Amino acid sequence: MIGFPRLGFGLGLRPQHFEDVLTGNPRVEWWEVITENFLVAGGNPRRVLRQVRERWPVVLHGVSLSIGSVDPVDDDYLARLRALADEVDPPVVSDHLCWSALGGHSSHDLWPLPYTEEALALVVDKVGRVQDRLGRRILLENPSSYVTFVASQLPEAEFLAEVARRADCGILLDVNNVYVSSTNHGWDPDAYLAAIPPDRVGQIHLAGHSDHGTHLLDTHDHPVCEAVWTLYSKAMARLGPVSSMIERDDHIPPLDELIGELDHARAIASDAVIHTAQDPAGRSVAVHNSAAV
Ligand SMILES: [Fe+2]
Repeated sequence: MIGFPRLGFGLGLRPQHFEDVLTGNPRVEWWEVITENFLVAGGNPRRVLRQVRERWPVVLHGVSLSIGSVDPVDDDYLARLRALADEVDPPVVSDHLCWSALGGHSSHDLWPLPYTEEALALVVDKVGRVQDRLGRRILLENPSSYVTFVASQLPEAEFLAEVARRADCGILLDVNNVYVSSTNHGWDPDAYLAAIPPDRVGQIHLAGHSDHGTHLLDTHDHPVCEAVWTLYSKAMARLGPVSSMIERDDHIPPLDELIGELDHARAIASDAVIHTAQDPAGRSVAVHNSAAV
């Protein structure tokens, strides 16, 4: 059993809400911060982070690891990430299954990989180096994507599952990204979920996207849509009470509005999470878990 902490329901910590978070008592069990916004020691962001950390668990979510690039792991970045993690003691450290830098130049985009055996070996090797350097297991998030590669040999979910098994890392399952990429590429989102090993999933992201007619764009500027809530319900039924959170990065509403959306996630998860138990005859039975998830 791998075991990831079950933190309940969280939100992305954004500067627009700093004051409300620090002076109020929002019904949030944990916060996620974008790692890169807090890497510089000192200053207001780290001051806020320390105060938030005194009251809640804080997980670190990075966008610069570029784990799929043929570039070597950036030692300076890892050293700063290690220092931040040592200070914050996050229950989870995550980044994306993607590449964003090549030849030392960063595009600041999260590009998908060709899902080949060669890419798999590269990512597994780099995850091992990162985990050794950080002294902790990381989670990799499934990206939202708009192109695929004809060279790919594996479906994305199988590739991600294989990375997790071989590298002994975890998965951050972004349910909105599953929906966005599945819609854009004609994948079956249920098959995607079925290919994800439940014991490797350490966190779930929920978010909104924009519909551009020909494709969906992962913009994090809308509430979570009904189709993604349906997929989330299926994910929770399969995975159990995995730590879940909502990402909002544009058109950011008041904190209370996001907490209302988080309450919807709580209700769906409470209905969906099923624990398998044994009846007296040793048969598997499904029972609803009404406890907080
Ligand atoms: Fe995400």
